[in-house]
Amino acid sequence: MLSICVFASGRGSNLQALLDAIAAGRVAARVLLVISNKSAAGALEIARARGIPALHTSDTHFRGEADYCHHLLDLLRAHRCDFIVLAGYLKKVPAEVVQKYKDRIINIHPALLPSFGGKGLYGHHVHEAVLAYGCKVSGATVHLVDLEYDSGAPILQKCVPVYETDDAETLAARVLEAEHEILPQAVQLFAENRVTIRGHRACIAPSPR
Ligand code: GRF
Repeated sequence: MLSICVFASGRGSNLQALLDAIAAGRVAARVLLVISNKSAAGALEIARARGIPALHTSDTHFRGEADYCHHLLDLLRAHRCDFIVLAGYLKKVPAEVVQKYKDRIINIHPALLPSFGGKGLYGHHVHEAVLAYGCKVSGATVHLVDLEYDSGAPILQKCVPVYETDDAETLAARVLEAEHEILPQAVQLFAENRVTIRGHRACIAPSPR
């Protein structure tokens, strides 16, 4: 059973989808801690409503990156988290945390990486860029987190169509449905120990069932 810390900056619908999948028995994991850099994040409310410890913490509260990093690692250790899910988290995770949790941090990105990823490409900016380019498909990617933005190995991807009538909002809503589907699925792949990392590839073992 995975013991997860979720990092989130926003409304928390991906956290909700993960908690629902756990409650429904589709994911063998527990969320032991939720951390947000935004005190008003909906994700914190969602966690608190379920009795999950939910903390607002930001690098701005600390003297430097090293102190912040130690604080995060202490929290993760104190709550016995062995896996991290970034669910709409808009800050970079400190390098030391990424290294300590190597191949045990995943992120959900609202596009088909490696297109439309990287610094500055988050939220509506992603969907606006997809529409401006004239793409016929977009989608969601769950990927491993490494030291750069959106550059780790993809774990799962799901496509959605882009319609000529779309604006960033309608496309975001369609992509979000795909995010809610593949984020819990990806967590379950790790829970079943089916992900092996070879170079930049995440190889998924077939289901034992
Ligand atoms: C999602 O589209 C996620 O991919 C992006 O921010 C959004 C967060 O949504 N990075 P939510 O907070 O999970 O509802």
